[in-house]
Amino acid sequence: MAARPHQFISAPDTGASPLSQEWRVRRRFARRLRLLGLPADLRGWSVLDIGAWHGYFSFECERRGAGRVLAIDRFAWDRFGMEEFLAAHTRLGSRVEYQHLDVHDLDVDAIGQFDLVLLLGVFYHLRNPLAALERIARVTKRLLICETHVLLPFIHERYPLVSFFPGDERAGEQTHDLCGIPTMTALTEMLRFAGFSEVEIAYRPSFRYWKKFVSLVTTRPQSGRGIVHARP
Ligand SMILES: C[S@@+](CC[C@H](N)C(=O)[O-])C[C@H]1O[C@@H](n2cnc3c(N)ncnc32)[C@H](O)[C@@H]1O
Repeated sequence: MAARPHQFISAPDTGASPLSQEWRVRRRFARRLRLLGLPADLRGWSVLDIGAWHGYFSFECERRGAGRVLAIDRFAWDRFGMEEFLAAHTRLGSRVEYQHLDVHDLDVDAIGQFDLVLLLGVFYHLRNPLAALERIARVTKRLLICETHVLLPFIHERYPLVSFFPGDERAGEQTHDLCGIPTMTALTEMLRFAGFSEVEIAYRPSFRYWKKFVSLVTTRPQSGRGIVHARP
């Protein structure tokens, strides 16, 4: 196994110098990798990366020894993200498989089951999150790692709330600018009701009380990173 994670992620244009942008992006992805709790050795595991976009995590799983890795995406790959993925794929000489596939159309009979399923930064894009989670549960053999923004309202954080989001395709038509962000309670309950029997919170949002205070002052719920490990 190589010693370091892949370093091909391109940086968004923030006006900062390319070097400092790249440094920030690398640092952000390195931190995400630390927090996610991906098994260090994936030899003998198959992996499904849902909403893979640039493929950073698909390629990282391949680097960690996973046998079969399937990356799927739809919205970004239909519009702007496919080139990045394919460029990295070629540069790395990767064997990661890829399919244009909407998570709402995941079909266990068509793609089979995977030891590890990644749902990273995707939940809050979904039009029908519970229906998608039910499909994800069917294709998960051992472990789902779900990382998402979770909702931090000033009060009612412990209730199973999800802000409505019509899906990426119709995001421009909505009347507010929140995605489909669940409270941590909503996320864990939805995973249970979708068919996962063991649901464990791996990471809760940092600066939670500060963000709740901001919610109060701005009267707009804030969000922070949540990571959950779920097993069938
Ligand atoms: C914020 S990006 C996350 C990319 C990557 N997983 C990561 O964590 O860096 C969200 C990705 O989910 C994809 N996505 C959104 N809705 C989807 C859907 N219904 N089915 C499959 N992919 C979807 C988007 O196209 C986009 O590539």
